[in-house]
Formats: sequence, C-alpha cells, structure tokens
Amino acid sequence: MKSKDYIALEEQYGAHNYHPLDVVVHEAKGCWVTDVEGKRYLDCLAAYSAVNQGHCHPKILEVFIEQAHLVTLTSRAFRNDKLPLLYKKLHDMTGYEMSLPMNSGAEAVETAIKTARRWGYDVKGIEKDKAEIIVATGNFHGRTTTIVGFSDDPASYGGFGPFTPGFIFHEYGNAEDLRSKITKNTCAVLIEPIQGEGGIVIPPDGYLKQVESICRENNVLLVMDEIQAGLGRSGKLFAHYYEGVRPDIVIIGKALSGGFYPVSAILADKEILGVIKPGQHGSTFGGNPLAAAVAVRSLEVIEEEGLIQRSYELGEYFMQKLRAIDSPHIRLVRGRGLWIGFVLDTKARPYCEKLMGEGILCKETHDNIIRFAPPLVITKEEIDWAVERIEKVVKSLD
Ligand SMILES: Cc1ncc(COP(=O)(O)O)c(C=O)c1O
Repeated sequence: MKSKDYIALEEQYGAHNYHPLDVVVHEAKGCWVTDVEGKRYLDCLAAYSAVNQGHCHPKILEVFIEQAHLVTLTSRAFRNDKLPLLYKKLHDMTGYEMSLPMNSGAEAVETAIKTARRWGYDVKGIEKDKAEIIVATGNFHGRTTTIVGFSDDPASYGGFGPFTPGFIFHEYGNAEDLRSKITKNTCAVLIEPIQGEGGIVIPPDGYLKQVESICRENNVLLVMDEIQAGLGRSGKLFAHYYEGVRPDIVIIGKALSGGFYPVSAILADKEILGVIKPGQHGSTFGGNPLAAAVAVRSLEVIEEEGLIQRSYELGEYFMQKLRAIDSPHIRLVRGRGLWIGFVLDTKARPYCEKLMGEGILCKETHDNIIRFAPPLVITKEEIDWAVERIEKVVKSLD
C-alpha cells in the first residue's frame, strides 16, 4: 500500500478530529522518521514533546520488551515490583514526597483538580461544593469535558457544554489580575509555566514568582502543568525553575514515557497528596508495571544523556539561527530550550506543507505560529540542515 491508500482509509473510516499533514510514517529513530515510500524527514515536533528522548530510544525499548515479557498489567488491586521504583525515581529527581500515576496528560490534570478540591474542603475548610480554581486565558490542559469547560478557545469548548462549574479566568501573565480573582473559596491556581499550545507564550519575568507569593499569602495551592514544558523541553527539568518557584502540585506526562506508552503523574508533598484516600481516585492502567518500568528508564535517559543541558544550549543556537533569517513575514522568534515559536504575520500551514516537501516535519499552532520542538537528541549539524531549508521555504513564500 502507498501513502495515498492509507490516507484514503483513514479519511473514510476515522473520525476527522485532527487535520494532519499528509505524511504516513512507517518507522522512526532518534530525530528522523521515514514514510511508507521510504522518504526521510527530520521530526521537529517530537509528538508534541512526548519523544524528547528521540524515537524508539534503544535503552527504553530494551526495558519495554523485557517488561512486556514479565508482566504488563496487574491493576492497582495488587502491587507490582516496578511502580515503587517509579515513585522513588520521581522523588529523587524532583524532591516531591509523593506522586500519583495516571495515563494521559488530561487524566493527570483531572487528578490535580480533584486533589486540589479535596484539599480545599478537607484542609482549607472551604464550604461544600464551593471550591474555585483560577485558570489562565489562553490555557491548554487537555480535552476532557471538565478541562475544555475552562478553555477560552471556542474550537475546544464550543458545542460541548454544559460544563463543570468552579473555574475562574485570570489574564495569563497578569499577576495583579490573578490577585483580584482570589476569594475565600479559591483552592488552587492552575497554570502552564509557558503556554505550549497557546504558541510558546512565555509570561513576563517575575509573573510565576508573583503567582507563587499570591498563592502563599492566600493559602491557595499552586498547580503547575508541566506536561509539555517539563522533563527538559524548556532547557530545565521544569520550566518553572527559570523563576525558582516550587509549586504545590506539578503535573507531568508526555516525555515521561519517551513516547512508548501513555504515562502521566502528579507530584506533591504528603500533606497535599495525602488527602486522597483508598477508593477515591484511580485508573485500571495507571501505575501498571510496563508503564512504570518504561517511565523510570525514560527519566534515566534524560539524565544519562544530559538532555536538559542539551536542550538549553541547542535551543539558544537554533533560535539565534532562526532570528538571523531575514523575511518580512517573520514577526518574532521566541522560546526556551528546544521549544520555539516561530511567529509569522500570515497563515503558517502553507509553510508547514512546504517544509514537509523539504524533509522537515513541524506543525502550526493557532493560525500563524510554527512550533519547532525536535527531539532533544538533535545535533547542531541537524539544526544547521533544518535552518537552511526553513530559510529556503520562508524566502520562497515571501
Ligand atoms: C500543557 C498540556 N497539558 C495537558 C495536555 C494534555 O495531554 P494529553 O494529550 O496526554 O491528554 C497537553 C497536551 O498537549 C498539554 O500540552
């Protein structure tokens, strides 16, 4: 079968909930993917930052296969000999006392919301069913009904109501606006340290620190969604390290499994995560031994291969080269680490399609922004190769 045959099948029998580029990937290794016709592409999206370690990383693959032969799923009705090792690894790497594993990112966000509300009632003493969580304009936290209910993007929430109450907006980046929204019923503030789907939007310097202070002053939990920003993507283990804050709850996912398997988690100290008691939350697959083994190895690979520092240094290099491209259509190049928003004054989709023709895979976010977020194992030479082609495409569309 050829690419066009797979595309025809997909269009006929699959729900049209995505608008993918017409590349049909057959295999991938490191930063490179190959389509069914054998054409190779440099992956500059890394599955929305889930394959920070590179595609099919051999060290993770080894553990994946080994564990698949041993046991894949016990459910949490029984214990397994891999999950405790993931708990310990997450503690050692991040300093949080406990964690709670789930599968998709959205499930981990839901877990954080439930934990924050429970803490609000049990510890802070908020009146029953009155808890409020302050979220940000421009946010993206996933696709469940509760989560899209506090999105301000009509494409996300339109036609899916009625929604879960108890979410209040503040303007992202505006700490004073946040302060004005706090009430006695506020249990948490939920934000992304950098808004990824929003277009790699970096809040003003000092914002995260101010948000932290406002939370402390008002006995409100700071919940940081690091699902896309975290685990090295931004050039730090967590993007909130840039301002030296310590959130009460950190949400992680995506690269936690190096792209092998959906694994997510929330991290918190005992006084917060301890509010969740047996029977109050769970998931059949959450914390399964295959997921736990893969997650431990994925975290080890980030450390062993120095991927966080690499993201920091090569991100600077990539951005500097992109900024040197002279075109009237480039409004701005912004980012942290290998997480770059290439902001145009025109529609980004035609650029992505032309880049695909040149052997580079990337995707627009919103109408006019291209996100460059390659696996963190990318080399300087591969960045040079990419920039040459990006410049060619930009010039051809000027
Ligand atoms: C910041 C953030 N939160 C949550 C999610 C949802 O994760 P998932 O797609 O695994 O449910 C995403 C996905 O892009 C994200 O970027």
